[in-house]
Amino acid sequence: MSVIARRDAARKEQRPNPDERGLPNAYFTDEAHYREEQERLFRRTWVMAGVEGTLLEKGAVVQADVAGVPIFFTRNRDGEVRAFQNVCPHRGVRLVVEDQQRAAMITCPYHAWTYDLDGKLKSRAHFFGPGAHATAEGEALHACEGLWPVRVATWNGALLVNIDGNAMPIEDYVAPLDVEAAGYDLGAMRYAGVVSSTFEANWKLTIENFLDAYHVFAVHPTLDSLMTPDQRKSSVGSGNLIYSDYYSTDTGKAMRGGLPLIPDMPDELINVSFFGVMFPNWMLSIHPAYLLHWHVVPLGVDRTRVDVHAHFVGEAATDAAHAEARKKLLDYYIALNGEDESICRRLQQGRQAPAYDGGRFSPYWDGGTVYLANLVRAAMAQAD
Ligand code: FES
Ligand SMILES: [Fe+2]
Repeated sequence: MSVIARRDAARKEQRPNPDERGLPNAYFTDEAHYREEQERLFRRTWVMAGVEGTLLEKGAVVQADVAGVPIFFTRNRDGEVRAFQNVCPHRGVRLVVEDQQRAAMITCPYHAWTYDLDGKLKSRAHFFGPGAHATAEGEALHACEGLWPVRVATWNGALLVNIDGNAMPIEDYVAPLDVEAAGYDLGAMRYAGVVSSTFEANWKLTIENFLDAYHVFAVHPTLDSLMTPDQRKSSVGSGNLIYSDYYSTDTGKAMRGGLPLIPDMPDELINVSFFGVMFPNWMLSIHPAYLLHWHVVPLGVDRTRVDVHAHFVGEAATDAAHAEARKKLLDYYIALNGEDESICRRLQQGRQAPAYDGGRFSPYWDGGTVYLANLVRAAMAQAD
């Protein structure tokens, strides 16, 4: 069976029932619920925390904030990515306050303990008294295990972390995505840069909106013109992935502006764009000539930033010949997010109306929203 036929068959299986309802309003408006969500959901699963492209070379040190936990990434001497909680084991000061690209080591700003890029303690100046930095006996007695590592994994440029360390193996987490991305040689993609937008809405509304192809008719005139009507599809769930796809029209192909296609794509995918949400906060879209990792960053119960990280094929990610085409595409995504901003704000405002009880869903379009709600419910129902 072709990829497209398989996806369409899965869609038919997941049509919402008329009595299906979305999440209660409090899930979008209540501060206490937001905090509980950070602990129960975001700290216990794999979450998107950035992209590898920002760790340019060996010696890179880049901060992030995941579910209220300050962390940082390093690229060590072997070029591998590591992640640590951003705190000094001595007195608990925030260790890294500035991103760097060529650090030889990490020095604590408070009492100048130093750590290597693998989190190992290297030195403790004056620890045993003025001028007494270390003694063999002292080191044995006052051993320090170094920085606290955070579980980290990568997937074609995306940086994922699991704060509590107990989430499923990363291979299992990304398995449904691996199935959908199997036709693409994403190893060819290189990082080009990021554009960011802020939405005055709960993170789940931002994601639901991304999954909602129904609003394209009314909200996105340009995107509307890039899709053929028969290729407007609903989203469908598979494990932690909720995805959709559409065919590009000739306008869509023209928008590529000479950017090279991902190598060796099967014919079937050459004019298809794929959109996915990896629950909870990693969205990605794979287009014939580029890959976008959309990092959804909850900033509060009613505020969300979305960083769209763009990747293109090989040198087309950075060379001058494709600079204009890259800019045009990124400008398009800024405009697209701008079109969604006011709708997301109104979705958030609507959740303050007590009569709203989760919604009345379209049997054709709203399967993705229902699937997402069920993933949220399951995560929040986990035992302590
Ligand atoms: S808190 Fe870091 S060296 Fe003292
Ligand atoms: Fe939209």
